[in-house]
Amino acid sequence: MKKVIVTGGAGFIGSHTIVQLHAAGYSPIVVDTFVNSDRRIIGRLERIVGQKIPTYEVDCCDRDAVEGVLQREADVLGVIHFAAHKAVGASVKNPLDYFRNNLGSLGSVLEAMLGSGVKLFVFSSSCTVYGQPDTLPVTETSPIKAAESPYGRTKQMCEDIINDVVASGADLRAVTLRYFNPVGAHPSALIGELPLGTPENLVPYITQTAVGLRERLTVFGNDYPTSDGTCVRDYIHVLDLASAHVRALAWLQARTGAPPVNEVFNVGTGRGTSVLEAITAFEKVSGTKLNYTMGSRRPGDVIETYADVTKAQEQLQWRAKLSIEDAMADAYRWQLALEANPL
Ligand code: UD1
Repeated sequence: MKKVIVTGGAGFIGSHTIVQLHAAGYSPIVVDTFVNSDRRIIGRLERIVGQKIPTYEVDCCDRDAVEGVLQREADVLGVIHFAAHKAVGASVKNPLDYFRNNLGSLGSVLEAMLGSGVKLFVFSSSCTVYGQPDTLPVTETSPIKAAESPYGRTKQMCEDIINDVVASGADLRAVTLRYFNPVGAHPSALIGELPLGTPENLVPYITQTAVGLRERLTVFGNDYPTSDGTCVRDYIHVLDLASAHVRALAWLQARTGAPPVNEVFNVGTGRGTSVLEAITAFEKVSGTKLNYTMGSRRPGDVIETYADVTKAQEQLQWRAKLSIEDAMADAYRWQLALEANPL
């Protein structure tokens, strides 16, 4: 059995990673507090994978509790650490909450792993660490810019912490994945993104507007120096993103016994899509017209970013297979299913 602990396993990216881990022959185990996720997602995951998923309601900041899970499960191959706060706006209002939670949980998960002899670690980072890149597409060696928010700073600090632990000679092999913009949902429409309150992110705002939960989408700025004046992002289907974690784990397994390492990979499609192009893709696959209006720029937004994914292609043998249309169709199906059959 190849047991893998997935912290934040009931969350958006975590739940899709559980599906892909199971499909690849791993035995995923969920560790989640359910403060920003719904425990009923676990039952839905079990329907998708057709078997029970061991689940622990544990706060990753509690090192003893995490260590308890590792010891109780025994023979754990590795940990994929998703559990973190991720709302940019909330992090500006409550920075200490973000530093305590995001840094504290990383520290205690790593301590618990080192104390239990678990050596393989995959960390969720973000393209936010690059800020506005000087050249596009952005490679893993592009400079790390001053963070725009406490949330972004926690991701940068977490990367530094992992590097310092590896540099100390600790018996740890890590992969840090810098995600571009995760979107979409599982095609079964059983799992997907569950934003708390009003969404900050584009795609949930679009799908909620389409079903009438929001009156209209505001496009944050159409006077940027881009092809159509709106910001450009690299939207990656969450299932492709989830697969990258499975490949990262396999990459780490092949390094068992090798010196400690923390290798960073961009995870995106390599393609830039503007906000207006994203809206057009949604309208095309949904067959609906979206109610939207042009608004002012959102403070802190970068103008344009998309990934150079050569490194992941060459070393992880991974590439994104799904398109923005696939992602929009799946996100819309998920939103419609939620309306018809709430959790
Ligand atoms: C945001 C975070 C990023 C984080 C990621 C996690 C900021 C500045 N960045 O990325 O650090 O890693 O979420 O998911 O918040 N848009 C609209 N109208 C809306 C919502 C969004 O026009 O109602 C636009 C934004 O201006 C942006 C694009 O859509 O150009 C994508 O926005 P969003 O989904 O919030 O992602 P990011 O800002 O790229």
